[in-house]
Amino acid sequence: MIADYSHDTAQARCLRTRLADRLTASGALAADWRPAFMAVPRHPFVPRIFIPDPDGAYTPLDGTTPGSRTRWLEHVYADDICITQLDGDPGLWDQALSAGRVDAAAMTCTSSQPSLIAHMLGALDVHQGHRVLEAGTGTGYNAALLCHRTDESRVATIDIDPVLVSQAADTLALAGYRPACRDADAADGWPECAPFDRIIATASFPRIPCAWVAQLADEGVILANLHRPLGGGALARLVATGDKASGRFLQQPGGFMPTRNHGSPSAYQVFQQVADDADRADADEVDLDLAEVLGHPEARFLAALLCPGVDELRLSYPDAPDERWVLAPDGSWAFTVVGADGVRVRQGGPRKLYEEVTGTYRTWAALGRPDRSKFGLTVGGDGAHRVWLGTLDGPGWDLPA
Ligand SMILES: C[S@@+](CC[C@H](N)C(=O)[O-])C[C@H]1O[C@@H](n2cnc3c(N)ncnc32)[C@H](O)[C@@H]1O
Repeated sequence: MIADYSHDTAQARCLRTRLADRLTASGALAADWRPAFMAVPRHPFVPRIFIPDPDGAYTPLDGTTPGSRTRWLEHVYADDICITQLDGDPGLWDQALSAGRVDAAAMTCTSSQPSLIAHMLGALDVHQGHRVLEAGTGTGYNAALLCHRTDESRVATIDIDPVLVSQAADTLALAGYRPACRDADAADGWPECAPFDRIIATASFPRIPCAWVAQLADEGVILANLHRPLGGGALARLVATGDKASGRFLQQPGGFMPTRNHGSPSAYQVFQQVADDADRADADEVDLDLAEVLGHPEARFLAALLCPGVDELRLSYPDAPDERWVLAPDGSWAFTVVGADGVRVRQGGPRKLYEEVTGTYRTWAALGRPDRSKFGLTVGGDGAHRVWLGTLDGPGWDLPA
C-alpha cells in the first residue's frame, strides 16, 4: 500500500512538468531524458527533508504531514538538492521534529540537484540494454531514472549506508523498479554484476577506484566528480581503452558530498592549530593575491586537482583587511592580505602552499587560460592518475594522491 504522501497527484505532475520545462529551457535536460524526468516522481523518494537555515542549523519539512504537503512539493520540484540525512544519523529526524530544528556537522544524504543529475545523465549517454552501476544510491531517485531509461535488470546501485539502501530499495519497488541494490563501499564496484557499460558516481571519490576501471566493459564510460577539498567541480568522463580509462572533464562543473570514509581535518581545525604561528610569521611582498586564484573557476579547477589536500578559509575582520587562507592537513598554511602597500603573504609548515597554489595559476595562465573541458584524465589499471591538456601526449601532471 503506497503511503498517501507518495501519491502522484495532479499537483505533483504539474510541478514536475514545470521543472522539466525549466531544465529543458536551460539546456540541462536532453530530449532523450525528458520522458524519464516526466515519468519518475521525485517526491516519494524524499518524504522528509531538512531545510538549511542561514545560521547553520536545519529545519524539518515533513512531506508525510498533510499540512506541509504543498510547501514540501514546491521544494521537491524546485531545482534544488533535498537533504534527507544529517551526520549519518537517522535519529536526527525525530530530534528535529520535536525541537523544531537541529544542529549537524554534515549532510550525509541528499537527492542531488535535478539540473546536475540531468547534465550528468545526458553526458553518460545511456542506451537501452546498457548495464549501469551507480555509486551512491542515496534516496534511489537517480536509480529510478536509470531504470526508466534502460532496463531495471541492468541497473545496480551501491550505497555505504545500509539504512539508506533498504529505504531506497523499498521506494524503488513502490515506484515499480527493482534494480540490484547493495550496501557496501562502492569503491570496490560490484564484480558479480560487471562488466558495466556505464558507471556513474553521485558521491565524490578522491580518485577513480581501480575496481571501476577493471569492471568497465569495452568502450564503457565512467562519469564521476573527483573530490578535492578546494572543490573545483571536476567532472571526469572517462572511456575504457584497454586496461585504462581516459577522457576529458565536462565544462559543466558538478560536486557531490565526499565519500564517508575520507576524514581529513577541516580547514578550520588546521587553522586553530596554526593560528599562533601565523601571528608571529613575517610577511613577504608578493604580486598575486590568493583570492585571484581561488576566485577564478577555471584556475581553481586546476589548483584543486594539483594541490592535494588543500582547502581554503576566508577570514573577515571589522577593522582589518580580509585574509584569504589555504591550509593542508599536514599543518601547512598560507594567507594573503591586500593593503594600501600591495599584497603580502605569510606562510608556514612543511609545504610552501602559496607557491603551490599560485604556481598552478601561473601555469594555467601561461597555457593560455584554458577551459576545464580542454583538460583530460587518464586512469591506469594500477590506479595512476594523469591529468593532461589537449591530447593524451600534451602537457600533463601526475595527479597527487
Ligand atoms: C548525493 S547522495 C546520492 C544521491 C542519490 N544518487 C539519489 O538519487 O538520491 C551521496 C550518497 O553517497 C553515499 N556514499 C558515501 N560514501 C560512499 C561510499 N564509499 N560508497 C558508496 N556510497 C557512498 C552516501 O551514503 C549518500 O547516500
